[in-house]
Amino acid sequence: MSTDYPVVIYGASGYTGRLVAEHLRDLGVPFVAAGRNRKRIEEALQLVPGIENARYEIVEVEHTVEALTKLLTGRKVVCNTVGPFMRYNLEVAEACLRAGVHYLDTTGEQSAILQLDEHFGRDFAKAGLAMVPSTAYMYGVSEIGARYCLETPGVDSLRLHGIGNAVPTIASTQTILDAVRHPCYYLKDGEMVRYGGIENGRVCTPSGEVLVTSNWGGSSNPIWFSRDGRVRNCKMDVAIWNQELYKKELELERAYKVQLQWIPEEQLRMVLDHMAHGITPNSPPRESRQVHRSMDICLATGNNVAMKSTLFSTGGYFTTGLLQAYAARRLSVETPRVVGLRSPSEVFGHRELMGALQSYGYASIKVERVV
Ligand SMILES: NC(=O)c1ccc[n+]([C@@H]2O[C@H](COP(=O)([O-])OP(=O)(O)OC[C@H]3O[C@@H](n4cnc5c(N)ncnc54)[C@H](OP(=O)(O)O)[C@@H]3O)[C@@H](O)[C@H]2O)c1
Repeated sequence: MSTDYPVVIYGASGYTGRLVAEHLRDLGVPFVAAGRNRKRIEEALQLVPGIENARYEIVEVEHTVEALTKLLTGRKVVCNTVGPFMRYNLEVAEACLRAGVHYLDTTGEQSAILQLDEHFGRDFAKAGLAMVPSTAYMYGVSEIGARYCLETPGVDSLRLHGIGNAVPTIASTQTILDAVRHPCYYLKDGEMVRYGGIENGRVCTPSGEVLVTSNWGGSSNPIWFSRDGRVRNCKMDVAIWNQELYKKELELERAYKVQLQWIPEEQLRMVLDHMAHGITPNSPPRESRQVHRSMDICLATGNNVAMKSTLFSTGGYFTTGLLQAYAARRLSVETPRVVGLRSPSEVFGHRELMGALQSYGYASIKVERVV
């Protein structure tokens, strides 16, 4: 295995791994495409536009700390796209620590982020390594909008809404179903408050339509901002244009409370994966930027100040591919300015991340002073 490839995509056979490969190629970064099945990785990479002049090699690897440590030794950074992350992130993070490699992933689940922090947050900080989950559309993009608002002194409360349209991939569907059984939180008066379950609200879109929202796992933002002394309150919800989806989420929660929670863990995973297979049996086709568009809105308030950011973006999975590749490129040549468990904007800068998204035509932002 050559040591000239500083970045490892773990989960390269997946929908998101493929998009990370596409953007790494575009940024001119050599990479290792790794995963549990060489043939599936080869097939996936054949679908990457421009792959003929990418510099990469394929490595098949078992999902064990030992095998992953061997894979990562001599590299700079891993882009971990193997989800659901509650199931699989610990082995990858431990291997990063052993190999001295920075860690990026695409998780949006609070439970997976807290699990990483609990096990390895301190050790990453001590080792001078960055551990950056959520380097992805959800919720790296909404965080950017919040941080623009926080540039205005006096802002202490963040109310965020994501409004989107997406076709979930196989692992995304598994992740959404998996998330129903893990607790999630929002930040209220400086304390993390646990949601009682799925919480539905309403959001008015800029065009005046009213959509039902769900707390959708709480988002990573309350975790990031609970560590920011400027912020007392942070809450986020998500509305999907296909309004059948929040009803499905409620049905699943009911089924979990009534029947599923009594099933032992291993069997429960199989049941949930079977249900996920019913919703997303095959990997969906490439996103369409004409269809898969999102809005992320943040209203940020203080005693006598209010700011609003509105971020329009296109292709949540494309956006994720770019964010991962951009972050990996930075970490492959820079010493990060902060280490340990950190948000994407803390490590890479919200204005720099926005610049990267804008340069690919993936997003634009408006920031306005309301009061
Ligand atoms: N936050 C966001 O905005 C965002 C955006 C994109 C993705 N994501 C998350 O990223 C994750 C991946 O999504 P995806 O779209 O790439 O899904 P996907 O197309 O289903 O790919 C999943 C990848 O994980 C691998 N994998 C699954 N189980 C494994 C195991 N036990 N050991 C080793 N590898 C395993 C798969 O390998 P095989 O091909 O061998 O099965 C595949 O490479 C999901 O959790 C999703 O929610 C989040």
